[in-house]
Amino acid sequence: MGMAASAGLALSGVAQGQEAEPKPVRVGVVGVGNRGTSLAGNLLRLPGVRIPAVCDINPDHLARVQALVETAGQPKPEGYGENELAYEKLMARDDLDAVIIASYWQWHTPMAVCAMRNGKYAGVEVPAALDVAQCWDLVNTSEQTGVPCMMLENWSFRQDNLAVLNMIRQRMLGEMVHCHCAHSHDCIDHWFFDREGNDRWPAEFLVKYNRDQYPTHSLGPVLSWMDINCGDAFATLASTATAQRGINAYFARRFGPQHPNATKAFAQGDIVTTTIKTHGGKTIIINYDMQLPRPYDNRWLIQGTLGLYNEQRDAVYLTGQSPEYHEWEPFPPYQEQHNHAWWREGAGAQDGHGGTDSLELALFVKAVRDRTQTPIDVYDSVTMSCVVGLSGESIAKGSVPVVVPDFTRGQWKTRKPVFGVVV
Ligand SMILES: NC(=O)c1ccc[n+]([C@@H]2O[C@H](COP(=O)([O-])OP(=O)(O)OC[C@H]3O[C@@H](n4cnc5c(N)ncnc54)[C@H](O)[C@@H]3O)[C@@H](O)[C@H]2O)c1
Repeated sequence: MGMAASAGLALSGVAQGQEAEPKPVRVGVVGVGNRGTSLAGNLLRLPGVRIPAVCDINPDHLARVQALVETAGQPKPEGYGENELAYEKLMARDDLDAVIIASYWQWHTPMAVCAMRNGKYAGVEVPAALDVAQCWDLVNTSEQTGVPCMMLENWSFRQDNLAVLNMIRQRMLGEMVHCHCAHSHDCIDHWFFDREGNDRWPAEFLVKYNRDQYPTHSLGPVLSWMDINCGDAFATLASTATAQRGINAYFARRFGPQHPNATKAFAQGDIVTTTIKTHGGKTIIINYDMQLPRPYDNRWLIQGTLGLYNEQRDAVYLTGQSPEYHEWEPFPPYQEQHNHAWWREGAGAQDGHGGTDSLELALFVKAVRDRTQTPIDVYDSVTMSCVVGLSGESIAKGSVPVVVPDFTRGQWKTRKPVFGVVV
């Protein structure tokens, strides 16, 4: 049985082998390019999920996802896409429980707000918001409507990261002190621009802004590792950026020095380094690294008073436990021993980022079905996302520390950890 199916069964409380159809959950999908179509495919593999409506301004993408839903044996979903506000009609339908949003960045917040105002759970792609004002829009709307909003940060659900979370919660690393994380993902030749060097929609962000454009995958697991919003909170943030060399160099190398982008001015520096200080005295370093040639990496390192985990080395060192003084130990046996319940139930499938996409969607759908809080709530969604705007502000002011707003309005002092807690 695949990850999606088994997670769906286990998470809906139905024992394997007794496959009763769970209560239907009706989901609309808005923005069905590469990511939205992939998420729709994952949703269609979850028991009881129906997709009655889809939305995209690109007619080819709309037709492609409609065919996907029909191939899965469901009626052709109604399509919306006559203009950029067509999503409002989808969200006003009375036969949807939730909306998944995978459109361009600037639409994430308005679409999620619209979903919540219409009483639909919002599952919104990363980043959920681009500045502090949008972060507050999400928080205020979720609080006023009582409707959850979950940013679909999938690396929070990785098997290794959840095993580390289990180890941290058993205090095997002691008291948390410091963390490093990164989104090191060369996206110049296929995502910011297409293979022929033409702009794709995110390219304009490289022209206009100098900031950490994509901090959410780096920060996803870090929030629960460090009890952020449940015992501690971000206090200040300071960012610095290198000059931009990588984009010009890429275009000169691949298309020749005459290509306009070989000399064009892009505001975005190649590497952005952000240091966050928490109220509890922890520090977190985040690297944005998306425009220099390199293999993919997240470079997580989490360090406490008893030892540390290093994702790149796939290793741990735990004082008093590791057999050799100051020698790394392999992490895989720890991952096996401390495997998270979410993965014990459904390990094995590789659909969508090693099974993380199915798991996060299964948990999102379960929350919608049970009318409970989503595993990543609106506060965690905006805490990860606010780094986009605040890093830009800090860089523009000469890398000075800027205050991170308390989106929980003081609740972080008394809230208990929820993410990954299985009762
Ligand atoms: N979590 C992950 O691992 C992950 C991976 C890839 C992308 N993403 C996120 O998913 C989002 C989409 O990325 P992508 O690579 O699929 O891009 P894409 O260009 O392939 O798809 C975006 C789609 O949104 C549609 N769209 C844009 N504005 C719209 C509007 N107003 N109404 C309706 N449709 C609209 C476009 O026509 C397009 O089909 C981005 O926000 C990205 O950050 C997340």
